[in-house]
Amino acid sequence: MSEASDFLVIGHRGARGHAPENTLLAIDAGIRLGAHWVEFDVQQLGDELLLMHDLRLDRTTNGQGPLAEYTFEELRRLDAGQGQQIPTLQEALDLVDQRAGVNIELKTWGGCAAAVARVLRDYLADGWTAEQFLVSSFHLPELWEFRQLLPEVPVGALVCGVPLDWAGSAAELGAASLNVSDEFVDDKLVTDAHARGLKVYAYTVNHPDDMRRLRAQGVDGIFTDYPDRALALR
Ligand code: G3P
Ligand code: MG
Repeated sequence: MSEASDFLVIGHRGARGHAPENTLLAIDAGIRLGAHWVEFDVQQLGDELLLMHDLRLDRTTNGQGPLAEYTFEELRRLDAGQGQQIPTLQEALDLVDQRAGVNIELKTWGGCAAAVARVLRDYLADGWTAEQFLVSSFHLPELWEFRQLLPEVPVGALVCGVPLDWAGSAAELGAASLNVSDEFVDDKLVTDAHARGLKVYAYTVNHPDDMRRLRAQGVDGIFTDYPDRALALR
């Protein structure tokens, strides 16, 4: 992965501290604030890939119930906050337009990896480089599937806890990074990940004191709702 700095600032769900999460507005805010990368969550619905964190629509849109029970057209009529539509992956990538790295988190399985790989192939053919992407997931078999389909694109293994084999599974996956919940950043986990050649990125870190502490612990970057706070630490 190419890095603009030694401490990567990754806008979380775009920059959800500044605009409705996983919308084009939030992604643009993240980039304008100076985030090196932007992260967003992607779910597959048939042939489409949509940016949405929850499986239910209720928290972030004016819709109700599971996203999977709606058609693409119905979902696109919803308000995802401040009049924003739920974006497609292609709309998000077109908006980024190589101005920042893109971390695509696979939130569904059983086809999501293949659908994302199909889209990224088009963007790679269009001039994006593999290192401008990081594909991640908590669903490690889905991430493994993605790796088989598009091995040149780096992947990040997401964990919310400390695995029994430390960073072993992430290394076995051929991951570039271990993306770990900030409350589980054990020094031994960081050491093990680094010994295996993996970066460590912590999510979701919004307080400057925590940003400083994690940086001092050797973490390579953070996901934050407030990229401006992380960049102001320098
Ligand atoms: O990818 C980092 C972070 O986004 C993972 O957790 O629940 O915010 O998608 P979540
Ligand atoms: Mg996420």
